[in-house]
Amino acid sequence: NGNQTLTMIKPIAVERNYVGPIIQKITDAGFIIRAMKLLQLSKNQAGDFYGEHRGKYFYEDLTTFMSSGPIVAMILEKENAVADFRKLIGATDPVEAEEGTIRKLYAESKSHNAVHGSDSDESAKRESDFFFSAVERF
Ligand code: CMP
Repeated sequence: NGNQTLTMIKPIAVERNYVGPIIQKITDAGFIIRAMKLLQLSKNQAGDFYGEHRGKYFYEDLTTFMSSGPIVAMILEKENAVADFRKLIGATDPVEAEEGTIRKLYAESKSHNAVHGSDSDESAKRESDFFFSAVERF
């Protein structure tokens, strides 16, 4: 489904009470929320989610961070969802992110960058199935 993407609001952004403002920016940009939940991943679950990064130098820190507190996972729908959402969140490193993007506004650093966005339609499907069963999405 090329019209959907998966996002996570990461532990640091949940902790700082940025959930509301981030969701506002997402819906203002025309995305419809098709699924949403607040949950905390175990380190192993974070490792499975980010399996494509296994072996990279930042994998250990990434999975420790992503399992450090609750996150908000959402399936978002819009035409051209994956690309448009990546534009809305900005570059992985907030220093490189454009003004007005979610990461520019709310990220602390490249590793604590406030939100995740799927990088392809295939990732969006895999990541959506990771978090949500059929009865949890609309
Ligand atoms: P995200 O979109 O969630 O996907 C992988 C995450 O790894 C990325 O955001 C970053 O927060 C994190 N990360 C940490 N260091 C790096 C790095 N050097 N390159 C890419 N991603 C990194």
